[in-house]
Amino acid sequence: MNSKIIIHGGFFSESGTNNEVKIAKQEALTEIIKKSSSYLKTHSALQTVIYAVSLLEDCPLFNAGLGSQIQSDGKIRLSASLMDGKSQKFSGVINIEDVKNAIQVAEKLMSEEDRVLSGSGALEYARQNGFEYFNPETPQRRKEYEEKLNASIGLGTVGCVALDKDGNIAAGTSTGGKGFEIPGRVSDSATVAGNFANSSAGISCTGVGEDIVSAGLSVKIVTRVTDGMSLEDASRKSFEELKPYDGFAGIIGISSTGEIYHCDSHPYMVWAAYDKEMSVFS
Ligand code: GLY
Repeated sequence: MNSKIIIHGGFFSESGTNNEVKIAKQEALTEIIKKSSSYLKTHSALQTVIYAVSLLEDCPLFNAGLGSQIQSDGKIRLSASLMDGKSQKFSGVINIEDVKNAIQVAEKLMSEEDRVLSGSGALEYARQNGFEYFNPETPQRRKEYEEKLNASIGLGTVGCVALDKDGNIAAGTSTGGKGFEIPGRVSDSATVAGNFANSSAGISCTGVGEDIVSAGLSVKIVTRVTDGMSLEDASRKSFEELKPYDGFAGIIGISSTGEIYHCDSHPYMVWAAYDKEMSVFS
């Protein structure tokens, strides 16, 4: 089996009209997909998803980890989840504060009985497990917050889906939320609507969390693939179902047959994939 991987860096906001940011995001995705595809050669899909999402979280250009959006009360809260298609286990953190890599806290939770934690419980668990204080705020995000530019910079999330040489699939997704949200708002990213994998396919979403949850998007696409549809057909059908309410979403996915697919309801999601040839565009 040829290993395959696809990553996304959320939506590039057209209203920002900042082409430099778009190019910088594409360059960052190129670097991260190169490192991650090389890592996948000697690691499982699950290990690689954690590795790739950690690199995306560490890049301040994306709205996850370092550089996350600031919420309406001036604080940053991170959400991330991980799903191992082989074991069918899902783990995640919702609205955790002051950690560097939320995806790694989700990784730690994989071995627990209670695998999705939120808020102060998630933070206490992280500290007990050696995750040190880290402030993910950047001067750019503070400037945007102060200028109240939330309308033009939201919709960022990062994600990865990988298929390893043993045929196992994993998916991971991480976000700083949509910016200026009411504290306590729950994103799609640490739910099965935003991130799902089984032995047939894996999907990671970006876009407006409320729309993605309304659609049950990731789990719906994966279920359709499990029931026999191609990844492309399953994704297209599920995106048709977003239209009545103008749902705003983007997905990346891989199926067990090696099909890699991405699509979005509104331009432009930034993504990169590695198959035999690497491609990056937005
Ligand atoms: N998809 C990220 C969010 O809505 O929080």
